[in-house]
Amino acid sequence: MIDETVRWALREDIGAGDVTTRACVPAGLRARGRFLAREPLVVAGLDLLEVIYRERGGVDNLTVLKRDGDRCAAGDVLATVRGRARTLLECERVALNFLQRLSGVATAARAFADAVEGTGCRVLDTRKTTPGLRQMEKRAAAAGGVTNHRMGLFDAVLIKNNHIAAAGGVRQAMESARGAGLPIEIEVRTWEELSEALGAGADHLLLDNLTPEEAREWVREIGGRAKVELSGGIDLSNVRAYAEAGADFVSAGTITHSARAMDISFRLELEESAIQPQESASAEPSAADPGRNAVCDPSSAPAVVGQVVNLRRAVSPPSGACPPPAGPVDNRPQDDILPHKIDLGQLRREFPGRTIVHYPTLDSTMRAAAGLRTGAVVLADEQTAGQGRHGRVWHSEAGAGIYFSTVLKPTPVLTLALGLAAAEAIAQSTGVACDLRWPNDVMAGGKKVAGILVQLVDGAAIAGIGINVNQPSFPAELAAEATSLRMTAGREIPPTDLLIVLLHAVDAFTAEPPETVLRLFARASSYAAGRRVTVELPDGAVAGTTAGLTSEGFLILRKDDGTDTLVIAGGVRAAGA
Ligand code: BTN
Repeated sequence: MIDETVRWALREDIGAGDVTTRACVPAGLRARGRFLAREPLVVAGLDLLEVIYRERGGVDNLTVLKRDGDRCAAGDVLATVRGRARTLLECERVALNFLQRLSGVATAARAFADAVEGTGCRVLDTRKTTPGLRQMEKRAAAAGGVTNHRMGLFDAVLIKNNHIAAAGGVRQAMESARGAGLPIEIEVRTWEELSEALGAGADHLLLDNLTPEEAREWVREIGGRAKVELSGGIDLSNVRAYAEAGADFVSAGTITHSARAMDISFRLELEESAIQPQESASAEPSAADPGRNAVCDPSSAPAVVGQVVNLRRAVSPPSGACPPPAGPVDNRPQDDILPHKIDLGQLRREFPGRTIVHYPTLDSTMRAAAGLRTGAVVLADEQTAGQGRHGRVWHSEAGAGIYFSTVLKPTPVLTLALGLAAAEAIAQSTGVACDLRWPNDVMAGGKKVAGILVQLVDGAAIAGIGINVNQPSFPAELAAEATSLRMTAGREIPPTDLLIVLLHAVDAFTAEPPETVLRLFARASSYAAGRRVTVELPDGAVAGTTAGLTSEGFLILRKDDGTDTLVIAGGVRAAGA
């Protein structure tokens, strides 16, 4: 029944497909989401998340952090999920609709249950539920602390005035109903009906629409000969008075028919940038690491990173003797390469046994690398649709930058390891000291010089690295944010040497345990702790001071009100930049 209701709700919303998501969100893109309470509430419906995602093909990971019935504060994370961005987006509304409504019921139920506490009276729910959601709303009411009355017309007898009239009286109605073999409750409206019902052996009486004073008198008259339930017009303002009238039960339709949907939000973070750790790393958050700003100092950055890697340097200078490709743009892999670009022969000699594919022009190396075996490298002289994080375009003009993707095994904190590799390789190869702007921007002189993009495709991590190498300048719209190694170092940079050092660095840093990567990153990045930043989150920009990394590599942002927010992905900028 519950699965069916979920299917029905998904069908109602998604129908033949989420056309917007399909149009805008790449199929391979993964994301993380968090369900957040935005006001104090009692949560319910969390078990539906598993059903919802299962119906849409499943997710990589769903972690439910609360139990139905838990009281939650504003800001509490109720559940986290990771999976295909498309799945998370298309399920978002349905998941929230269920959670918000059911938490509304549970919250209302909790308020009623609390209101009668200590009286010995129990609050019952009713059949005044949303059509189709009876089971879910009743479960939510129970999670909130009230007792479920009958589920429907089938599981208990409740004889009301119309039934009495049709049966020819209280006694006749009671006798006929006994045949059902179910619990019997009967409504009585007069003293005569009361004595008839008691005479017929009724053990559960319903008294409707009495004032608390009248209820007290009826309860006194009944004197414990049957259970008493009060109903009609009972709300939070008067429920305690009814309970104190001595009733065994009060029933309140408002718990289900008028519950307000609670304010719960879903925060989605697209995850090109961060690979989900496969197991939790044991490193402590590195907030207190005093060496964290060292990378801004040109002399200290390479040494810091160099403690753990022994990179082999490319020995020969870049060759300048390869012919340029002739004729119009050819989108097939080609070995010939422009002289000022990468020497493919040298690269292949340096990495024998590794698949290295080169394209003069390509839409994106990310796409071309998907499906290749681990270790494969795809290089392009130019990309016509270079992908940046958050769906942005990576400016990839011919002959100026290094643009490549390599296939790696997904490992924890992979993005951070790649940032360290890029910073180290740049430092070793060019002498330019780089900062790392969490999670994956390589910065030189306060501007971005390289970017890293990680995508999970069929269980493999496709790591894309773009480095601005020899651009003499950038278009006006990028000039404030972007720089090249040439602009920073003041000289032309030979790309082959840099690429070889970088590939060795990638191998070295991705082989390090996560705790080492975290420690090094915290030392190498001035953004990891103690830096005033603004973070672009789906709900808007948040300002604060960075306060270290978690063992999963997430950034801790200490907001100005003293509370901490976990930044899972998102644009981090130095405050004022
Ligand atoms: C970022 O936004 O910072 C990430 C940029 C990643 C760009 C590289 S270039 C090689 C690879 N192919 C792409 O299409 N993107 C990545």
